[in-house]
Amino acid sequence: MKVPFYNFASLHHDSFQKQAETRISAILKANSFVEGKYNLAFEKEFSSMQQANHCLLVANGTDALEISLRACDVKQGDFVGLPGITFFATAEAIINVGAIPVFIDIEPTTGLICPESFSRVSSQYNLKAVIPVHIYGLPAPMEKVQQIADNKNIQIIEDAAQAFGAFFDQENQRPVGSLNNLTTFSFYPTKNLSAMGDAGAILTQNTDTADKIRSLRNHGRGTDGLIGRNSRCDHIQAAILHLKLAEAQKLNNKRKKVARYYYKHLKFLNSLLLPEKYLPLSSWHLFPLKLRNNGMRKRLQSYLTEFGIGCASYYEKSMSQEKALVKFIGEKEEAEKFAGRVLCLPMNPFITEEEIRFVGNKIKDFFDLTTEADVLTN
Ligand SMILES: Cc1ncc(COP(=O)(O)O)c(C=O)c1O
Repeated sequence: MKVPFYNFASLHHDSFQKQAETRISAILKANSFVEGKYNLAFEKEFSSMQQANHCLLVANGTDALEISLRACDVKQGDFVGLPGITFFATAEAIINVGAIPVFIDIEPTTGLICPESFSRVSSQYNLKAVIPVHIYGLPAPMEKVQQIADNKNIQIIEDAAQAFGAFFDQENQRPVGSLNNLTTFSFYPTKNLSAMGDAGAILTQNTDTADKIRSLRNHGRGTDGLIGRNSRCDHIQAAILHLKLAEAQKLNNKRKKVARYYYKHLKFLNSLLLPEKYLPLSSWHLFPLKLRNNGMRKRLQSYLTEFGIGCASYYEKSMSQEKALVKFIGEKEEAEKFAGRVLCLPMNPFITEEEIRFVGNKIKDFFDLTTEADVLTN
């Protein structure tokens, strides 16, 4: 048995392919290549699904961050906070608008932004904005972050590139994107909702901000004196995204089911799993296991790879350990301890319980074979 990390063949099944082809050939015939009817249809449906007033499609998730920073008027020399555990693009977007990234430390159990660290960092540096990241698909502790940001007049951009399908609370099912902040998404092919290439989106509740973003993504058109750029989303990508949106909730629910199987078959690893309260809340973009140290993570990764189990390290380095970013400031101790320890197991909507049992058994074998007595403690 092999358990791959992704399963594009099942995602792009025959009937999906047929529908996609019909849409693509209609677009070719209509010569409507950018910002067509599917862009508008997707923006309308996605914003309603995520309980936001406006959705603006852009070319990718990194542009979504950059354009959001510009929409918040972040300029050359401004300080912008970000958690130490994220994908490089979060920091890159800050630097590309001329601002200075400031590291905020993370919560050691999850990798999410630590509100106490945010509070300390924001007392020390005059942050213009902060980018909490819903890493792995886990909702960041927004209530606390919001309170601190509101007190200090710091604008919030939520990086939800990995979090389509995540909720802030179980009771009211408030989706990521529903708060009064800018929220950015990536629709890169591996994401929970994916284009057939690059695409991204920004959600906002504010009509003026939506108008500004609409203008920024299209050369400043419609706004005198504004320098924008080209970050339009191709019509073909929008048509694919709109088509996939119909199945998206179902697929996200399947991911939750897969996560439940993992909790059932990895009970013996309790201390390495995320707290169970995240089961109904995470988008389960990834399924992270936090190992005791980098060596253990590497050994488990190569052991599982030998058995055809797709797994990957997220992330090898914290932002403060990246060569291009070492010169920047902030709090970084927990993020640096966390980096290199997380191994993500196969996660996609099509994994069966039998496959998870197989993964669980192999992990058990690995720990039975290893001689270190304390491997199961954090
Ligand atoms: C947390 C995070 N932010 C931003 C991005 C950037 O998105 P894109 O690759 O669509 O530019 C990604 C993509 O992987 C991501 O995971």
